[in-house]
Amino acid sequence: MKILFLNGPNLNLLGQREPEVYGRATLADIEAKVRERAAQLKAGIDFRQSNLEGELVDWIQQAKGQFDVIVINAAAYTHTSIALRDAIAAVGVPTIEIHLSNIHAREEFRHKSLIAPVCWGQITGFGQKSYILALEAAIDVKVNKK
Ligand code: DQA
Repeated sequence: MKILFLNGPNLNLLGQREPEVYGRATLADIEAKVRERAAQLKAGIDFRQSNLEGELVDWIQQAKGQFDVIVINAAAYTHTSIALRDAIAAVGVPTIEIHLSNIHAREEFRHKSLIAPVCWGQITGFGQKSYILALEAAIDVKVNKK
């Protein structure tokens, strides 16, 4: 079982970026927690971040045949990127959308996710725990669907 975690723009700034919204954990802290839980669950993890939409598209395309599930925090691209949505739909690798904050409880422009319709589901609002919940969901749903 191999899971690809993708993180979009500005998530490299976690820890210093609007901590009242996103918490004080850095992306490296979150990655460490994900790796710890993944090891317990015997899942392989790749954990990446990019500020570039095209790089995220490339990584989604390359995931086909390499990963069982993609977990993506597309950050602001969630609300704008038809390219990410098309990539997820095109490769057909089961994908789980996640967010640290509850996007539905924030500004109206964050309520709409362009990627949600092509994802298995959305986990939003649990802080860094969203990543762990997605990891557990990825394994659960993958195993139970097969
Ligand atoms: C986010 C929510 C997005 O609206 C925002 O643009 C982000 C982070 C989250 O994890 O809460 O950059 O995806």
